[in-house]
Amino acid sequence: MKKPVIAIDGYSSTGKSSISKVIADKLDIIHLDTGALYRGITWFAIQNCMNEDGSIDLQKLFSSLDQIELEFRNNDNELILYLNHIDISKQIRTTEVSDNVSIVAKQKEVRDFLLQSQRTLAEKGGIIMDGRDIGTVVLPNADYKFFLTASIDERTNRRYFELAGLGIEADREQVKQNLIDRDKIDSEREIAPLKQAEDAIVIDNTSLTKEETIDLILSYIKKI
Ligand code: C5P
Repeated sequence: MKKPVIAIDGYSSTGKSSISKVIADKLDIIHLDTGALYRGITWFAIQNCMNEDGSIDLQKLFSSLDQIELEFRNNDNELILYLNHIDISKQIRTTEVSDNVSIVAKQKEVRDFLLQSQRTLAEKGGIIMDGRDIGTVVLPNADYKFFLTASIDERTNRRYFELAGLGIEADREQVKQNLIDRDKIDSEREIAPLKQAEDAIVIDNTSLTKEETIDLILSYIKKI
């Protein structure tokens, strides 16, 4: 039997990735955090394509995309991105990357560059992918689609403690502002904006624990 393809979209810091990882383990399928791809390209841009004023030189980034080699290694059901043979899992979580990623992610050149690899990874089934446009654009025929949302204060807390857990010191107000800014850019962009697919199940997990959200999603997967 073909294993399911599951799309999880939603706002920043609704727990999409950590929830998806647990579901992948429970269903014995693989997990891809697509936000890591956009963060990876942003990290590359920060290293190689900066203007003197500290903004990203997008034209230079576009012409450098063919120098980027993406590779995915399966580590315990989790697909880890290697960019030009480097594991950049830690580097992509910095606030510098978070502050620039939505500008990079709204560019057509960047989205086109990443689209096919995401689709190829899902061809054989048995994958849960989380992001912003998975149910709408990347995998419109996914077997299950979920859209996560939560209040801005709850999401701020979650991101703040996630960063603290990674040893990254952050200012709570700045964390909140970054979430607000990214959600706005992500929702308002022309290409593949953040929005719920018409056939997605919406879950507001403001007052749910991570475990409760996981159980709820699994209950739908069993029911459908
Ligand atoms: O999921 P995460 O918060 O790490 O994503 C970082 C950013 O990557 C998002 O704010 C968004 O700009 C971009 N992204 C996207 N499409 C996806 C996943 C992430 O545009 N499928």
